[in-house]
Amino acid sequence: MIKIDEPYSLRLGSSTGISPYKVKVERRLSDLSGYFLDKMLVQEMLSMGENPVIYEVYELPQPPVSGMLNVGSTVIYPGKIGDEYYFTKGHFHEKESTSEVYIGLEGEGLILIQDRRGEITSLEIGPDVLVYIPPDTAHRSVNTGSRRLVFFAAYPSDAGHDYESIERTGFAKVVVERDGKPVVENNPSFHE
Ligand code: 6PG
Ligand code: NI
Repeated sequence: MIKIDEPYSLRLGSSTGISPYKVKVERRLSDLSGYFLDKMLVQEMLSMGENPVIYEVYELPQPPVSGMLNVGSTVIYPGKIGDEYYFTKGHFHEKESTSEVYIGLEGEGLILIQDRRGEITSLEIGPDVLVYIPPDTAHRSVNTGSRRLVFFAAYPSDAGHDYESIERTGFAKVVVERDGKPVVENNPSFHE
């Protein structure tokens, strides 16, 4: 049993990325319907009753108090909507001064990191790779492989999640398959 604000250790790996965990969040295509480029295809799939799980998040949260850390893992399934690889919604943290660290556990992918001016960086993630996400940047993870992408995350427990800002503008880049390979391209529907 892991108790709030007491020392603990947990295991990385296995099907859930961290074990034990306390909260599981599942995101299906219907939760991401406005996010993919090919909105017609998304509507078509949903109307046919096709609603795949895109990703899952497993969390061990602490109270939202300055100084404490949440840890969690994300599992993104392999797949594409049209040419676009499965990804997470992406968010800024509500508390702008908070940063985050991801550590890859399984599979391969890219982390898109975008500042408030729309400047975007993409970094590879995979087993034993650590990605640092600076304060006040939106972050999205993309599974570019043919297997699950699993990574560990740690961030201040009072960070909060702001999904709205990035939902409004989108990310400046998209990650799509071209000739069988992942390519980062300008997002035609990005608006500042
Ligand atoms: C966080 C982390 C991470 C993230 C998941 C799912 O701040 O909690 O960045 O755990 O939430 O990878 O991504 P979305 O929160 O964007 O759906
Ligand atoms: Ni985050």
